[in-house]
Amino acid sequence: MLMMLQRCVLTLCHVLVLVLCLSAAEDFDWTKNDRSSFYYGSFPTGFSWGAGSSAYQTEGAWDKDGKGMSIWDVFSHKKGKIALNDTGDSSCDGYYKVKEDIALMKDLKLNHYRFSIAWPRVMPTGIKSDYINEKGIKYYDNLIDLLLENKITPIVTLYHWDLPQVLQEKYGGWQNISMVNYFNDYANLCFERFGNRVKYWVTFNNPWSIAVEGYETGEHAPGMRLKGTGAYRAAHNIIKAHAKVWHTYDIQWRSKQRGLIGISLSGEWGEPVDITNQKDIEAAERYVQFYFGWFATPLFHGDYPQVMKDYIGKKSAQHGLGSSRLPTFSPQEKSYIKGTCDFLGIGHFTTRYITQKNFPANLGNSYFTDRDLAELVDPRWPDPGSEWLYSVPWGFRRLLNFVKTQYGNPMIYITENGVSEKMMCTELCDDWRIQYYKDYINEMLKAIKDGVNIKGYTAWSLLDKFEWDEGYSERFGLYYVDFRNKNKPRYPKASVYYYKRIISSNGFPNQREVESWKRKATETCSSSNQLLAAGLCLCISDPLTSHMEMVTEIVVPTVCTLCILLSAIFLMFLLRRRN
Ligand SMILES: *[C@@H]1O[C@H](CO)[C@@H](O)[C@H](O)[C@H]1NC(C)=O
Ligand SMILES: *[C@@H]1O[C@H](CO)[C@@H](O)[C@H](O)[C@H]1NC(C)=O
Repeated sequence: MLMMLQRCVLTLCHVLVLVLCLSAAEDFDWTKNDRSSFYYGSFPTGFSWGAGSSAYQTEGAWDKDGKGMSIWDVFSHKKGKIALNDTGDSSCDGYYKVKEDIALMKDLKLNHYRFSIAWPRVMPTGIKSDYINEKGIKYYDNLIDLLLENKITPIVTLYHWDLPQVLQEKYGGWQNISMVNYFNDYANLCFERFGNRVKYWVTFNNPWSIAVEGYETGEHAPGMRLKGTGAYRAAHNIIKAHAKVWHTYDIQWRSKQRGLIGISLSGEWGEPVDITNQKDIEAAERYVQFYFGWFATPLFHGDYPQVMKDYIGKKSAQHGLGSSRLPTFSPQEKSYIKGTCDFLGIGHFTTRYITQKNFPANLGNSYFTDRDLAELVDPRWPDPGSEWLYSVPWGFRRLLNFVKTQYGNPMIYITENGVSEKMMCTELCDDWRIQYYKDYINEMLKAIKDGVNIKGYTAWSLLDKFEWDEGYSERFGLYYVDFRNKNKPRYPKASVYYYKRIISSNGFPNQREVESWKRKATETCSSSNQLLAAGLCLCISDPLTSHMEMVTEIVVPTVCTLCILLSAIFLMFLLRRRN
């Protein structure tokens, strides 16, 4: 009797668990893209507004106070790797301007500031047993203390791409599994020294870029070109390193320090060219899974997305390889990795249209051909800055809803979102940036209304800074930095004024007020532009016209334009026959 009862209860439990699982696995609806108009409303109370930076991009002082060399110091010093052979040697001199920069954050009334710790600044060789650089520790101590004095919450990234060069030379960097323990030692030191004050930790920033651009295409440090294998191996070790550091925090520090630890993943959105075509939908999903799901799926579900396993496995077999180029996790590793994200950081900038495209096997192995898809852009999308960065606000809401359905509605912080400009001279009236922030932040607000659990937003970036292989030719800052001046002065762009209004209103109150922000922002910037005219070269060309020229160079027909063309031809044909 008792046995029967037990069995009954067990079956009931199973059914319950099944039902719960099924209801949690909500499906993303690819076939509905709601591009509704601007939404006036506010963010939840306590929503955290911030801005961000990273160590190598802003600190400068690359060889000061005992700092060791990173792979980016070495990479940028090689000729021909960076636009105009620029380096981050001094960049914004942020290392010497902590007080000044915190004053800028205070003026914006930021709730948080996201920055990264340079591993070789606190551990010059990357290896704890070699030595710890107390001067480096002191720099971050001071930065954190000053932020807290000004009521700005630090969100700290442990790895924003600046691996200690010694670890690259000795082990091949992220190709080598030994990075897991070295990174864990470094993270542990950071928890020990800073964790009493830092409550938000981000292990890695944009591991996609580390893996693909560092080890597949070689556009970024360490510049390795290991096509079809390098990125997958780097990502595998990075995921393991993230999980290990999460467990270290969980076991050793969480009960004392009571912080949260997550990761910052970058993901551009992939929209099916034709949302009624199943092949396009599948291709778009592959794009997103190979980008975002590559890292998010192991951390939330314990393994790589099935579609990656299938495609890379199939392609490896076609090439006569005995096993897949995508490494595998053991059952123990899967359960160790699953659930190692207290919050999910999301970096997002742009969107692509995606369609199916088969790459024949004889083209050779690569991450890009493994996906069997083509990326398209709509020539009508504005692209004020970086070549890859088109402003497509609705893609942001799509990505956020996708994340909600795929990973059980996790707690989200937007860790990067913003737009660049491609201009060598001063332009403080950045109306295209105002438009970008306005529309993207509005789509994020709509996503919150959709039920996505977003707790904070980080504008990328606080200052103009070193943009990796693009050097100083692209500027993402809310503040303009005059890099040619030895003192690296900062000047507010019009978007500073605008972002400040969004923050103080905690959203978009009503049309009249929101329109007045833009007017006032433009007034303030044109007067400061005049003030600066004496000392700086000013842009003569209208940024809008230069942008138009760029757009006309890109001729990628979208299905829409094709449709219109075809219907026109068809109509002509019909009319002719009638005549
Ligand atoms: C960068 O350095 C390489 C090698 O010295 C040189 O050929 C190239 O012209 C340099 N580029 C610029 C923009 O100075
Ligand atoms: C990792 O580093 C060790 C020590 O240098 C080396 O023996 C091993 O071959 C490296 N493994 C990979 C995959 O590079």
